[in-house]
Amino acid sequence: MSFNTIGGMADRTKNAFNMGPPPAYKVEDEDTLAPRWYDAKRWGKKVWIAVAAIIAIVIIIIVVGVVEGEKKNKYPDYSKLSYSLTDTIAGTSFFDEFDYYTGYDSSDGFVHYVDSTVAAQYNLTYASSSSAVLRVDTSVTADTVPNASTGRFSVRITSKKQYGVGSLFVFDVVHTPIGCGTWPALWLSDPANWPTNGEIDLMENVNVVSSKANQMTLHTTSGCSMGVKRKETGKQLTTSCVNTTDSNAGCGVTGSSTSFGDGFNNAGGGSMAMELRTEGIRIWQFTRSSIPSDITSGTPDPSSWGEATADFPNTDCNIGNHFRNQSIIANIDLCGSWAGTASVYAESCSGTCEDQVANNATAFTDAFWEFGTFSVYSAS
Ligand SMILES: *[C@@H]1O[C@H](CO)[C@@H](O)[C@H](O)[C@H]1NC(C)=O
Ligand SMILES: *[C@@H]1O[C@H](CO)[C@@H](O)[C@H](O)[C@H]1NC(C)=O
Ligand SMILES: *[C@@H]1O[C@H](CO)[C@@H](O)[C@H](O)[C@H]1NC(C)=O
Ligand SMILES: *[C@@H]1O[C@H](CO)[C@@H](O)[C@H](O)[C@H]1NC(C)=O
Ligand SMILES: *[C@@H]1O[C@H](CO)[C@@H](O)[C@H](O)[C@H]1NC(C)=O
Repeated sequence: MSFNTIGGMADRTKNAFNMGPPPAYKVEDEDTLAPRWYDAKRWGKKVWIAVAAIIAIVIIIIVVGVVEGEKKNKYPDYSKLSYSLTDTIAGTSFFDEFDYYTGYDSSDGFVHYVDSTVAAQYNLTYASSSSAVLRVDTSVTADTVPNASTGRFSVRITSKKQYGVGSLFVFDVVHTPIGCGTWPALWLSDPANWPTNGEIDLMENVNVVSSKANQMTLHTTSGCSMGVKRKETGKQLTTSCVNTTDSNAGCGVTGSSTSFGDGFNNAGGGSMAMELRTEGIRIWQFTRSSIPSDITSGTPDPSSWGEATADFPNTDCNIGNHFRNQSIIANIDLCGSWAGTASVYAESCSGTCEDQVANNATAFTDAFWEFGTFSVYSAS
């Protein structure tokens, strides 16, 4: 019996089996075709090695990207610490808390740092109940004995007490020094162990004749960089804090254009606050009218102050290892390796720095620091 013979049913069956061309897979013979590139079963050893290498490279790129991204976004946890007052330096005993440095100036200044006796004699340090003044001498001329032919009298004071991480400093600054040839600084360091124990400059500039941007800078031994994520309103200068790079320029940050000199002084000065903690070092400059009320009331809380003026996080710098035994230091150097460099001096002043210092006594009448209270708090 044949289907063809079975009337309508045979026709329907025939139609069903003869629709369209035969299926392609049925015709092709796999063994006679070239292997497809994605057919892993047919890859030779070389191909496997190449593929493995490509996968390894992709994984490395992803991992490096993630690690670099994390590093770039890494930022310390500056959560609130509770501080209590440990030291108040103020009033007529202000200078009793300091030693007067009288040695050679390692910054090559054209200066004679005098002891407390000579400072009192020339009224270079003077403390009243409300403020403390530290100034450059204006009385010695070319014709007096002594004269200033080998440098002018000035003062550099170093606090007897030293501080480490877990400290908060609040310095009231009424007046910053002005004058050609001056190099004033308000800073912290351990001079006997420099740069091993670090240096933190809160206020510094040179040859200020009107207003300039205050510079805040760290100086360290190797292994301290600020090429990391920071949160600050100031402007970053260089990122290596290490003393052997950039001729010991340090890692500096500048504040506003009126944060040092006339602009700052005419506003009545302000407050410099510096938090030294394991997570980093942050410096805030507040002009007199914007000093936070918690500073005025003696219960400072940096976590409430907003973004710092300068932020030195511990991301690529072990703060606890680099900053130890810090004394508070204030001085006014004259000329020297920064202010006295011919090109730097010429930016704001004419003639030569040493001539100005030796022969122009009255040009230093505005070359003085005036400080209110210095308060130091420690984290509990
Ligand atoms: C010393 O300096 C202070 C602060 O500028 C001033 O008030 C005082 O009159 C000066 N004393 C003398 C003896 O010149
Ligand atoms: C300045 O004082 C020194 C002594 O300290 C003296 O040798 C020198 O001649 C003096 N200079 C002038 C211009 O009087
Ligand atoms: C940097 O510090 C090292 C000590 O760590 C010292 O030997 C070197 O003289 C310093 N260099 C500068 C330029 O300050
Ligand atoms: C800090 O100073 C203390 C007291 O003078 C001393 O014993 C200690 O060794 C110093 N630490 C460092 C790291 O210099
Ligand atoms: C003395 O210093 C003042 C202020 O910097 C300056 O204007 C003046 O030209 C200087 N005088 C001399 C003789 O250099």
